[in-house]
Amino acid sequence: MKDLDPLPITPDFDVWPVTHAITAARTVDGDVEVTWDDGAVCRYHRLLLAENDPAPDILHPLSRETLLSPIDFPADLAATAAQACGNGALEVTWSDGRAPSRFHPGWLRAHGWFGTPPAAPEPVLWTAEDLPEPPAFDGPEALADPAVFLAWLKALRDYGVARLYGLPQEDGLLEAVVQRIGVIRETNFDRVFTLAIKDDPDSNAYTPHALPLHMDLGTRECPPGLQFLYTRANTTTGGEGLYADAYRVAEDLRASEPATFAALTEIPWEFNNRSKTSAYRATGPVVELDTAGRIRAVRYTTWLRAPMVAPLDVQDRAYRAVRRFADLLHSPRYMMQVTYRAGDLFAFDNRRALHGRNGYDAKGGERFIEGVYSDRDELHSAIRILERKALAAR
Ligand SMILES: [Fe+2]
Repeated sequence: MKDLDPLPITPDFDVWPVTHAITAARTVDGDVEVTWDDGAVCRYHRLLLAENDPAPDILHPLSRETLLSPIDFPADLAATAAQACGNGALEVTWSDGRAPSRFHPGWLRAHGWFGTPPAAPEPVLWTAEDLPEPPAFDGPEALADPAVFLAWLKALRDYGVARLYGLPQEDGLLEAVVQRIGVIRETNFDRVFTLAIKDDPDSNAYTPHALPLHMDLGTRECPPGLQFLYTRANTTTGGEGLYADAYRVAEDLRASEPATFAALTEIPWEFNNRSKTSAYRATGPVVELDTAGRIRAVRYTTWLRAPMVAPLDVQDRAYRAVRRFADLLHSPRYMMQVTYRAGDLFAFDNRRALHGRNGYDAKGGERFIEGVYSDRDELHSAIRILERKALAAR
């Protein structure tokens, strides 16, 4: 490889700034040890390197996806030599005689294990006392400036609820905004639902009744991760929006009432939709943990919770825990109350920021709110793409 050769491509379309140079490289028991110019030392597994080799017979140069399967590599494959090239890439020679592999130093540094997992954004938990209103952004500005749009998306990711205000009244605007983030998730409530009173309501949402805090579509194996509510008109009395950070409440219960927290995380409930034309059902605990014990979702809608068929003592634990959870969620400490104004677009994490509303007087004015669902994946992907573009433009 010549000193001035461009750096190898990477198995993705991300931008990997070269923040550190390789000062030494050697093989250790068939793996590769790299020493960086800040003194950090990292060992790379032979198979991580082999399957991410950017050579065109291993990595398709257009799709940037690996072409091989684990059985395409010899079981005893080993790196036999490693060195830094003149252009900064790492070159690795292999025991089976294949062509040497070369790796981008920015990509390599970013994928090394240095003793701690890479930093990842974590939810910023809130009460209504420390966050009385959702983070808010000027709507037209956000639509015109990718940096403001990105700030709105990051606030949604971190706080679970974020608002655009001052948007114009346009048919189709809600879909257009959400499609800038990603794919809209259609449901049995249609692609775009309108929160208005129906003569034959298939949800309490289509009545003027108050709605206690809840999530939507907890009846699905994976309920929508995002919900967007765009206020077209609201001159009725009442109907204020209610929001609470269910993660905050659950974390506080974990610390102060471990038995309640255990019941919320361990006892499954079934949720069933009540409809003449659909019969969705899904089961899960109220608070879902990941393998590390972190809260990753809630499943909570009182009017969609099915009767629990379980021993009475289990039912008793479950009911007491749900009652306590609801008690805290609806307390002034945790529940924020907001007024929907024409031009508002509220975005929230349907599986974290529980929402509800006060009852309203349907005869006292007009209330016209449109909604759509999407998923967390779309949000995270959009954030990464906007960040990638910003990094590439530097
Ligand atoms: Fe809802």
